[in-house]
Amino acid sequence: MAVLLTSGFPMTRKMLFLLVLVPALLLAGCGEVEDTRPGQPVKTRQEAFKDLLRSFEPMSKMMKEGRYDADEFARMSTDFMAKRKAPWSHFGSDTNYPPSKAKPEVWQDVAAFERAKQDFFASSDALNAAAQARDKTRGENLYFRVYDTCKSCHDSFRHR
Ligand code: HEC
Repeated sequence: MAVLLTSGFPMTRKMLFLLVLVPALLLAGCGEVEDTRPGQPVKTRQEAFKDLLRSFEPMSKMMKEGRYDADEFARMSTDFMAKRKAPWSHFGSDTNYPPSKAKPEVWQDVAAFERAKQDFFASSDALNAAAQARDKTRGENLYFRVYDTCKSCHDSFRHR
């Protein structure tokens, strides 16, 4: 926060959001229980989500540090798009066991989970379109929309 203030950027709501909330996506990580089942579906999907976060965070870092580079942002978005499909096929039936932090609602309300996933896909499609079009304003705004779809799915389907 001090960095932003001393470097003369106004502390906008967006910046606060980037500083505080994006890192908070990480906090639910790091289960201590080993996934011993064949194929390790829980571990695999958790790794896939961590990987997704690792490609999502650099975009916010770039905005936060006020050094938007359109080509680099487009490249990061491409990377993110390549990773967004990975977790979902590892939510097979009967895969809600420790160390999973998924709520039973993932399997009980399949339609709602699917809707949350589709919202995420739609918002990241839009973000990627803006990123590839080198549209900074739309890209920044749509980044927050994608973030909201991560967060709202977590609120409904993941334990804190
Ligand atoms: C449609 C629902 C949904 C969306 C959208 C979603 N997640 Fe998740 N996420 C989950 C669920 C469910 C888990 C818990 C998985 C488990 O522990 O079995 C999870 C877990 C995670 C974890 C913790 C992994 C671990 O090691 O325990 C991270 C990090 C994460 N998500 C990041 C993201 C990011 C970043 C986005 C958006 C760019 C996102 N997620 C979008 C449902 C979602």
